[in-house]
Amino acid sequence: MLHPSVCFSCVSFLIRFKAAVSWYTVDLDLPPAKRWTAVITDKKADPLMLDTLPNPFRDEIKGIAAVSGVPLGEVVLFNIFYEVFTVCTSVVAEDDKGNLVHGRNLDFGLFMGWDVKNKSWIISEKLKPLVVNLDFKRNNQTVFKSTNFAGYVGMLTGIKPYVFTLTMNERFSLDGGYIGILEWILGKRDGMWMSFLTRSVLENATSYEEAKTLLAQTKLLAPAYFILGGNRTGQGCIITRSRLLSLDILEIDLKLGRWYVLETNYDHWKEPLFLDDRRTPAMKCMNTTTQKNISLKTMYDVLSTKPVLNKLTTYTTLMQVSEGQLESYIRDCPNPCMPW
Ligand SMILES: *[C@@H]1O[C@H](CO)[C@@H](O)[C@H](O)[C@H]1NC(C)=O
Ligand SMILES: *[C@@H]1O[C@H](CO)[C@@H](O)[C@H](O)[C@H]1NC(C)=O
Ligand SMILES: *[C@@H]1O[C@H](CO)[C@@H](O)[C@H](O)[C@H]1NC(C)=O
Ligand SMILES: *[C@@H]1O[C@H](CO)[C@@H](O)[C@H](O)[C@H]1NC(C)=O
Ligand SMILES: *[C@@H]1O[C@H](CO)[C@@H](O)[C@H](O)[C@H]1NC(C)=O
Ligand SMILES: *[C@@H]1O[C@H](CO)[C@@H](O)[C@H](O)[C@H]1NC(C)=O
Repeated sequence: MLHPSVCFSCVSFLIRFKAAVSWYTVDLDLPPAKRWTAVITDKKADPLMLDTLPNPFRDEIKGIAAVSGVPLGEVVLFNIFYEVFTVCTSVVAEDDKGNLVHGRNLDFGLFMGWDVKNKSWIISEKLKPLVVNLDFKRNNQTVFKSTNFAGYVGMLTGIKPYVFTLTMNERFSLDGGYIGILEWILGKRDGMWMSFLTRSVLENATSYEEAKTLLAQTKLLAPAYFILGGNRTGQGCIITRSRLLSLDILEIDLKLGRWYVLETNYDHWKEPLFLDDRRTPAMKCMNTTTQKNISLKTMYDVLSTKPVLNKLTTYTTLMQVSEGQLESYIRDCPNPCMPW
């Protein structure tokens, strides 16, 4: 479906296709091995080196493997691939009334097989049916919500209602790059999987400031970008991480006219790779939209503009912290559409 839109004038055209994502509850009061039963049974998820992982992740993955019948090794592998083959766009913006909106496209499956006939990425297509919205509860109360793939226990996209919103984008970097993952495979387990950190932060941090400190200071296995939004004016940032430390924190700064922060997969102080510039079109679109008009709806339009939307885009999630709201859509990018 093609629609003209606010962004029509800035970049080629826009696709407003939406497919609903269903909701599941994950009960944090259950033992880790039992938490995912409903999601996995329902989605018949193919979940994935296990005894190497910390709890609660290890027991949750064991539970997933037990319910799905998929060999444990595959469940673990599946949980790790996300850390390596994901490219994304994330943006946190503040409107002129001080509301914070946070949107993201998750683009997954790069280099994992191109289907020539269908002009699509094989893995990206296979994952779409596994996209779920999750409501993590304790004492029957929501602790956090997320958009995720059934069978994956880390978090790439989530909200702690009324407190903060968080997404993670991959950072391809050679400074320390994947050495940590290599070391982890070889047995030296020093540092945390990035999406396990985001999960811990969503589950246990109680403020924007606490989340920011944990995301900036916890030792990781590989570099990453964390995009964090809070619940008060000025609370929105991109944390650029090396394995060991935070290299830079770019924050919303209304005094400087910076009413949004936007991250794809390149350090914001460097030019994006010319073959993969999703940043310029996305920023152009944000600038055309203006601070006055930014909302979940107009952010969806920005995230539906090619090539911000591309053949890898699996889902779009929109979050509004003040409403405790998370909504997500499975995406499809009809031809002609960039492979990434
Ligand atoms: C490619 O398209 C055909 C026909 O539409 C479909 O049957 C097949 O499952 C598709 N393959 C993938 C990998 O999506
Ligand atoms: C949990 O909360 C829902 C409404 O939020 C209520 O309908 C349900 O009965 C509660 N369940 C328990 C076990 O308290
Ligand atoms: C959150 O904190 C609780 C209590 O300290 C702990 O049991 C749990 O494992 C933590 N969750 C994560 C995902 O780290
Ligand atoms: C915003 O977050 C703080 C914690 O940083 C919390 O104390 C406060 O209640 C939150 N505001 C609202 C409106 O929920
Ligand atoms: C968007 O606006 C910002 C702030 O005015 C400016 O720095 C940036 O260059 C603009 N980007 C594009 C692509 O128009
Ligand atoms: C902002 O929204 C209003 C009302 O929907 C519309 O009339 C106006 O043209 C929009 N402004 C921009 C810059 O898109």
